[in-house]
Amino acid sequence: MGKMRLFIVFAAIAVFSISCKEDATIDNPYDDQVPENADGEVTIDDKEINPISIQGLHKNIFKPTCANSGCHDGLFEPDFRTVESSFNSLVNQEPIKNDEVDLLPARVVPGDHARSMLIRRLEEDLNNNSGIMPLALEPGSDWEQKKAEYIQNIKDWIDAGALDSDSNSREVLDYPPQLEGMIVVKNGNIINRGGRYNPINVPKSHGSVDVWFAYKDAESAFSEFTNMRWNNSIHFMDYDSLAWRTMTYEATPMSAVGINQEQVDHHFKFTLNLSTYEAGDVIWLRTRVEDAENQIELPNDNSQYNTLKYCTIRLY
Ligand code: HEM
Repeated sequence: MGKMRLFIVFAAIAVFSISCKEDATIDNPYDDQVPENADGEVTIDDKEINPISIQGLHKNIFKPTCANSGCHDGLFEPDFRTVESSFNSLVNQEPIKNDEVDLLPARVVPGDHARSMLIRRLEEDLNNNSGIMPLALEPGSDWEQKKAEYIQNIKDWIDAGALDSDSNSREVLDYPPQLEGMIVVKNGNIINRGGRYNPINVPKSHGSVDVWFAYKDAESAFSEFTNMRWNNSIHFMDYDSLAWRTMTYEATPMSAVGINQEQVDHHFKFTLNLSTYEAGDVIWLRTRVEDAENQIELPNDNSQYNTLKYCTIRLY
């Protein structure tokens, strides 16, 4: 291996051992540390996190009470594992399961907690068959004691624009209009509906009646709706696509109880001629309206059966 190469190897080892020798002068900073609880947990000094920020909601609510194993731990949405996954699976995200009557556009609608499914699921048993969140509590969860405060924190975050962790807001989407009510009027008198979702019974002898519709749209004024039309059929899901006719916007509405059992203004009207129908016929009605962003048929093929039935007239 040649004398020279051997010399180089030994010289390198000598240099290395001299330079690696523990220098008695370097202090070990941990030597002076007096361990408060030597065998205890290292405590993190929790900085004050704004409880109505997404970080605060995640720390106080979503992580300890919702992202439990087998629940919102990535298995299904909303995903409450991190601040970001919580934000992205809540804001402007369409719910998987909706309220059968009072459809909500998103899990969180920035600026509007009343139309946010997140709040609905914390306060109501959706459709009386879903339970109220959280469905179960981890041992040690402070949810029961702080429930009212926590729900108010979430409402305040939503109403303040549902800001992300950098205090940016997502744009408020222009959600489609929703059906709020349908009434039948003869000579200015509203014809009673036999039950919440029951057809409206109308004597054929009336000849023709006025039908009024009511909608809900938080982003667009009713007077800005365009292309309002109606259609009718005695066949449940079968409408003549050429039979869509104009429905008018009436600035002076007819006020009456709507599909959600609340008093609502019906601004849209058309006249239905009954002469071509027989007593006993059930007339199924559909409408189409457009706002700045959306065109929608209400009710439509995806509507709940109760909603389809709500928009019918039975002749006698
Ligand atoms: C405060 C904590 C919680 C919040 C804020 C919360 C929120 C929600 C929301 C908004 C939905 C509706 C999702 C959609 O339809 O798009 C939902 C559904 C669901 N959550 Fe929670 N949740 C919480 C805790 C829990 C816990 C602890 C469990 C499990 C024990 C759980 C199990 C479920 C299940 C199985 C569903 C889907 C079925 C259904 O819609 O009823 N959740 N949750």
